[in-house]
Amino acid sequence: MVEKVLQQCGAFFLKFDWKPFLKLHLNFKSHLMNIAILGSGFIARFYAESLHAQRRTDRITSVYSRNLENAKRFADDYQLSHHTDVMQEAVNGKDIDVVLISLPNHLHEVAVAECVKAKKHVICTKPLGRTAAEAKRMLDMVEEAGIFGGYLEDLCYTPKFLKSLESIRQGSIGRVLWAKSRETHPGPHSDWFWDKEKSGGGAIIDLGCHCVEISRNFIGKNIKPLEVMCWADTQVHPIDAEDHAIGLVKYANGAIGQFEVSWAFRGGMDLRDEVMGTEGTIWINSFLRTGFEMFTTGKGDGYVAEKAEVNKGWLFPVGDESHELGYPHMFTDMFSAIEENRDPQETFYDGYVVNAILDAAYKSADTKLWEPVILEDWRGDNPDISRKEFTSYDDDYFLIKEEVLPNGDSKLILKHKVSGEVVQKTN
Ligand SMILES: NC(=O)c1ccc[n+]([C@@H]2O[C@H](COP(=O)([O-])OP(=O)(O)OC[C@H]3O[C@@H](n4cnc5c(N)ncnc54)[C@H](O)[C@@H]3O)[C@@H](O)[C@H]2O)c1
Repeated sequence: MVEKVLQQCGAFFLKFDWKPFLKLHLNFKSHLMNIAILGSGFIARFYAESLHAQRRTDRITSVYSRNLENAKRFADDYQLSHHTDVMQEAVNGKDIDVVLISLPNHLHEVAVAECVKAKKHVICTKPLGRTAAEAKRMLDMVEEAGIFGGYLEDLCYTPKFLKSLESIRQGSIGRVLWAKSRETHPGPHSDWFWDKEKSGGGAIIDLGCHCVEISRNFIGKNIKPLEVMCWADTQVHPIDAEDHAIGLVKYANGAIGQFEVSWAFRGGMDLRDEVMGTEGTIWINSFLRTGFEMFTTGKGDGYVAEKAEVNKGWLFPVGDESHELGYPHMFTDMFSAIEENRDPQETFYDGYVVNAILDAAYKSADTKLWEPVILEDWRGDNPDISRKEFTSYDDDYFLIKEEVLPNGDSKLILKHKVSGEVVQKTN
């Protein structure tokens, strides 16, 4: 009898399809990343909040900060098992799968070099470098070492951005003609940002990197950026770098990218994008006006949102800042890419292209001329832009415009295909 039961159990064990359970188990295991974070300041805390939120499985386990007390405070706040004031110690940690660079701009290259030495995958905050030359050295180091290099451009991962990009890829707004991105706020929160040597510049390098990559995504990352025209000035602050700039980036398919950046804007942090295509338009407001408005006399002492200047009167809070700023989707893409042995949506190469565009912007602000984007390493297309396709109305005419007038008339404006004559017809 016992023998029979055991036989039946054995048969059941062999016949049962265990694969989904095994897969679940393997997936679960493979999703665990141990992260060493370098830096314990503003962005490091945002990253930690995002990574340790919502029962996510990936964990920061070690933090490096030049100040041991800050490292300990950070480790205590996020329950990390290790903290240090020696960068190599964090990078070389035995259990560390990936290093997350959250240090000031002038330290990105040395930190990447440490990851390369230790052969640890690296994800680096924006901007990748202070210049294209610096970014290119980081890109080369990572590629030669065969380690993963992810560029943490969070604003290319916001839910609104991802949905817009998908619509554009599906053709909903036709060919993208113009993509404008704006990031303005009253200025950054630490000394080193205001020191041109350490940061690499002012609002252009700090905020322009976001805007340029947003436009580049909308226009198409395989389309070569050709040249840049930029105005920049130091309108308010006693600094060597620019605190306000506007730039145009011309792309090889005729599209134009536009960035508007400022450290002199008052009223919070304004993140807005506008895309114009041959078949449609997209407007995104990512932060200052997300549909959440609140009035308070100032009785409480609530935190409103990043760079909000006041906490009384009419306010524009942000529900889940990490989410609105794209961090969760960004980290998901980065860690999945490491596991799947593929490139993430934003790579070190993208960081390098952004820096090359910003280099041209700085040059143009000086020379007041269109300046070429110098890309010694271009991996995209070189499209033929001499051919333009027009909408045919019939065998003889192209359609220029069709409009219903206030009196109900319908007007057609046409161009003769051979003579070039422009005519109008009213129905
Ligand atoms: N949206 C974003 O993606 C975003 C937002 C803010 C900042 N950032 C980027 O994150 C990086 C850090 O900016 P932050 O806002 O966290 O700055 P922060 O000043 O708040 O923090 C910087 C950290 O680096 C440490 N540090 C400063 N100088 C150092 C030195 N010489 N040696 C060692 N450590 C040093 C500080 O102690 C601190 O831990 C920058 O590259 C910045 O551009 C990205």
